[in-house]
Amino acid sequence: MPNARAQELVEGLQKTIFEFMREHKVTHDEYRVATDLLAETIQAGEQSLLYDIFFEAEVTDIANTGRDGSPEAIEGPFYLPGAPELEAPFMLTQRADEKGDVLLFMGRVTDTAGRPLADAEIDLWHADADGRYSNIDPSVPAWNLRGRFRTDAEGRYKVRTIVPQSYEIPKCGPTGRVLDALGRHCFRPAHLHVKIRHPDVGEMTSQIYFKGGRYLESDSANAVRDGLIAELIRHERDEDLAAHNLDKPYFDVTYNFVLPSGVLAVARAVA
Ligand code: DHB
Ligand code: FE
Repeated sequence: MPNARAQELVEGLQKTIFEFMREHKVTHDEYRVATDLLAETIQAGEQSLLYDIFFEAEVTDIANTGRDGSPEAIEGPFYLPGAPELEAPFMLTQRADEKGDVLLFMGRVTDTAGRPLADAEIDLWHADADGRYSNIDPSVPAWNLRGRFRTDAEGRYKVRTIVPQSYEIPKCGPTGRVLDALGRHCFRPAHLHVKIRHPDVGEMTSQIYFKGGRYLESDSANAVRDGLIAELIRHERDEDLAAHNLDKPYFDVTYNFVLPSGVLAVARAVA
């Protein structure tokens, strides 16, 4: 059955690609390189990686245009539903000897009217100190550094994890080859991924980056935006360490999430 939106998008895209092919006098060999590349990404399990690196930031920019509240960011290829539900005090599932500095990630979740969103679910996932994701890299235990937890009655959250490091996307596969041909590196700046859900406002997906971090200016996925960069603060005073029962310096980062309230948000929530 014809679908009007599919016609608009597919036929519009085809027209744009035709114009592009004419302008650049694309040869048959170059056309084949492109179709082979798409087939190869699927064989290498990189289909989502390739598209997310090159295109996903644009869809989030479109969604953020005219949107109230904190900006959304790309989901990336490594989100998995069904992460463990944590018990308070919240700490992301991790190895007993998890590498990396302790990080306390905290803040508030409110709607655009400033009302706290109590009992919002925060789904947090990030790479380890070697830049690897669990359930993607087989050397990392299942669900490591992935978990879900909730805000309290004032919409506050606090979770303990480790400071993630810059992440290098697989550079030996087809996606890495394309970036190499463009003279670009494969790194993404260190980041935390979050999804936030609340029945009154629906869901948002974001990423938090760290001020002053490497690759913020040259992210291979070009997904860093103002409003997503938070300050990583180091704590080393004895009283602070004792208060958290830690014997080495730790970091904290505070980020307040604001989710759009109102009719539009509710429409999104029930869609
Ligand atoms: C991409 C996004 C990520 O967050 C990540 O960790 C790796 C890759 C991507 O856009 O492909
Ligand atoms: Fe990521």
